[in-house]
Amino acid sequence: MASFITAGGKAAGPIGQGTWYLGETPAAFADERKALQAGIEAGMTLIDTAEMYGDGAAEELVGSAIHGFDREQLYLVSKVYPFNAGRRNIFRSCENSLRRMRTDYLDLYLLHWRGSVPFAETVECMEELKAKGRIRAWGVSNLDTRDMQQLLAVPGGAGCVTDQVLYHLGSRGIEFDLLPWLQQRDIPVMAYCPLAQAGRLRRGLFAHPAVQDIAFARNATPAQVLLAFLLARPGVMPIPRTGHAYHTMENAAAADLKLTAAELAALDAAFPAPKRKVPLDIQ
Ligand SMILES: NC(=O)c1ccc[n+]([C@@H]2O[C@H](COP(=O)([O-])OP(=O)(O)OC[C@H]3O[C@@H](n4cnc5c(N)ncnc54)[C@H](OP(=O)(O)O)[C@@H]3O)[C@@H](O)[C@H]2O)c1
Repeated sequence: MASFITAGGKAAGPIGQGTWYLGETPAAFADERKALQAGIEAGMTLIDTAEMYGDGAAEELVGSAIHGFDREQLYLVSKVYPFNAGRRNIFRSCENSLRRMRTDYLDLYLLHWRGSVPFAETVECMEELKAKGRIRAWGVSNLDTRDMQQLLAVPGGAGCVTDQVLYHLGSRGIEFDLLPWLQQRDIPVMAYCPLAQAGRLRRGLFAHPAVQDIAFARNATPAQVLLAFLLARPGVMPIPRTGHAYHTMENAAAADLKLTAAELAALDAAFPAPKRKVPLDIQ
């Protein structure tokens, strides 16, 4: 299965770092910076951000956190608003992201969600950004199967390297058709909200006996069980977000937690995937 390769030639992952809501509170900035840096040191070299997050504040935090690290070992991802994803605005948006992130290229630039700019125009611009060396690859976010089919049908659409979608143990809708469709095409998925925002999106997830039992038996935490559940699927990279280095270290260590078939079956029984098409869950 394809993965995200840094300019230095290393595969990023298996777990990345999210940044939504980070960088917005001056009093938390230093801790959040440390959290991201601890993640890079622990091998979580893929960092996901967006021009939307805190109106650029998250990108600025990333720019500050990566200072002093070898840029070629990092895999930096940002996203363009749908209304900026056309010829009129995308080049300026990208330059602004690069400036805030204090870097001269993005490893990956994503269309944040589908808007009114035609896919063909966005793809053409993404390819131009690639040719200019401002981005190394492009992808999309929040696209369901039909959107993906339409994207891949436009000229150059097959250049898309990921679909970043909401995916956690309590929200398994993508397993019905989107995930297999992407896996068949060797397009990796970035799983956002992998912790269901610490259970906020799905109350009871962390405290559920099925999760708790595995956590207890494996000397792990519920968050690690949730991440390990996603890591057990080929071509899925979770991108948890935390403002605390102790949680970063906990999340990084989840890469070593390999769930057994029996554990996966227990989680499956407690949180079954839907047996029919459901609308894409979006945050
Ligand atoms: N493409 C899109 O439309 C889209 C949408 C949503 C998110 N995203 C991306 O995906 C990333 C992850 O999603 P998210 O931030 O919404 O939610 P998330 O990663 O599922 O959950 C974040 C929450 O989990 C807590 N947390 C982190 N590690 C923990 C641990 N080990 N134990 C207990 N709690 C823990 C964090 O609190 P602490 O800070 O206290 O640790 C925070 O409250 C985002 O940051 C963003 O980069 C993309």
